[in-house]
Amino acid sequence: MSKKNREELRELGQFWTPKWIAEVMVAYFLDGKQKELFDPAVGAGAFYVALKELDKKRQIKFYGTDIDQDVVNGAFKDKIFDGRSLIEIRDFIKEPPAKKFPAIIANPPYIRHHRLSANTKKLLRQISYKYAGFDIDGRAGIHIYFLIQSLGLLENGGKLSFIMPSDTCEGVFAKKLWNWIGNNYCIERVITFESDATPFPNIDTNAMIFFISKNPKQPVFEWVRVKKESDQLLGYMLNKGCVFPDLEIIERNIEEALFTGMSRKPTEKSQYKYRLSDFARVIRGIASGANDYFFITKQMSEELEIPNKYLKLAVGRTRDVEGNTIAFSDMKKLERKGRPTLLLSLDNQRKEDLPKSLRDYIEVGEKNNLQHKALISTRNPWYKMEKRESPKFLFAYLGRRNARFVMNQAGVIPLTGFLCVYPLSDDKKFIAKLWQILNDPKTISNLKLVGKSYGSGAVKVEPRSLANLPIPEEVVMRVGIEPICTKEHQNTLFEFAYS
Ligand SMILES: C[S@@+](CC[C@H](N)C(=O)[O-])C[C@H]1O[C@@H](n2cnc3c(N)ncnc32)[C@H](O)[C@@H]1O
Repeated sequence: MSKKNREELRELGQFWTPKWIAEVMVAYFLDGKQKELFDPAVGAGAFYVALKELDKKRQIKFYGTDIDQDVVNGAFKDKIFDGRSLIEIRDFIKEPPAKKFPAIIANPPYIRHHRLSANTKKLLRQISYKYAGFDIDGRAGIHIYFLIQSLGLLENGGKLSFIMPSDTCEGVFAKKLWNWIGNNYCIERVITFESDATPFPNIDTNAMIFFISKNPKQPVFEWVRVKKESDQLLGYMLNKGCVFPDLEIIERNIEEALFTGMSRKPTEKSQYKYRLSDFARVIRGIASGANDYFFITKQMSEELEIPNKYLKLAVGRTRDVEGNTIAFSDMKKLERKGRPTLLLSLDNQRKEDLPKSLRDYIEVGEKNNLQHKALISTRNPWYKMEKRESPKFLFAYLGRRNARFVMNQAGVIPLTGFLCVYPLSDDKKFIAKLWQILNDPKTISNLKLVGKSYGSGAVKVEPRSLANLPIPEEVVMRVGIEPICTKEHQNTLFEFAYS
């Protein structure tokens, strides 16, 4: 791994499994019945090393495939692989083995969808059709297809253990994927990690381990939260000992888990009677397509002599909004700091009808080929800006622990660093109550139920998922706010799409 740069690692998705995790995953197969274990993304053999350690009598044969000859050769040289292992250079996605397996283990390559070629994506769609009978959203990374294909290659009664990023349970494709798995397989155990116990400290994703068998589904399974790296997790897997202070072990109802998303702690019904969409509408801030050009400082607008009527007061970075309100005085402060505060907001006026100063500036944009940029080229004319009413509230949607709602006293328009929250009623009392429920710590704590989690403890909330934010019934009652919209809610907390 040391010879490869980060970019190459990303292309092949090579993040090695640490020993303490590899052993925990292998322990699942030590039930005395297994004869063979298959690892479709074997790499340098982390699971084989663990198997040699735990299966002392060497009863389980090992078969591994990988596309990286160098890594596999390195492991042979280091005498990791031996006579009880069969290792093949083989692309598991393109040429899966033509047989089924009683046991499959993997830390599949984590390659995000935008790094995959169109041909690979086509093949991936076929895989999902072949095994699950449906198409998965194109934003699923290759690890999702490793899971689907491996589940498809399990023998009846077979067992699978995969370590995956938490987007497996939080991505746009999660609902379909888990409906399929939940109905056709038995989810036996799921292990999640606190950020301090993360198996991959240098990567900003939350890992989860799934233990799934090809057996009829069961109503409950064990859901574990690891608070601290320790050998208790292995003890728990091997049924050794019964006190595990470093673990939180919860017997969890499968229906609830599929509703909430298995990367998250269990929720109770009263937490999700009301959603933010009952009280407000959410859309993302403006995507200008070229902030450097469209989003300018006061000083620059004066130098360019752009008339005020073509400019809107706007805020771009979440860092530019310090507290829970944004007032005119804050915008003045940003201006003094030389931060951009003005968005060039042209409609579809013809260039000829605009003042000379603007015509000149549009030509500058054209000389820089802005009209050919992906998002901008879809607009006609290219300098036409998206429109937004100034929202009553902004939502800073990506933060370590400070995802928050902001009262927009300055009437600004937010760019994509924020989401716009529009109350469903103009009534002043309603708006004041809405502000109260949005800032209630119990509401804020529910953000983790709808956001995507990252290894560092950050949460990212997309517009559709913010609309889906559960507002605790107790908070609604205490504040005395009436829901306005009574449209049916989505069935799960994680059924969202980017808008
Ligand atoms: C996250 S690493 C895991 C390696 C090892 N099993 C471990 O746990 O440390 C994923 C491995 O998948 C391999 N890989 C990537 N694409 C593959 C493919 N299409 N077929 C088989 N292996 C692939 C990479 O070369 C890499 O070694």
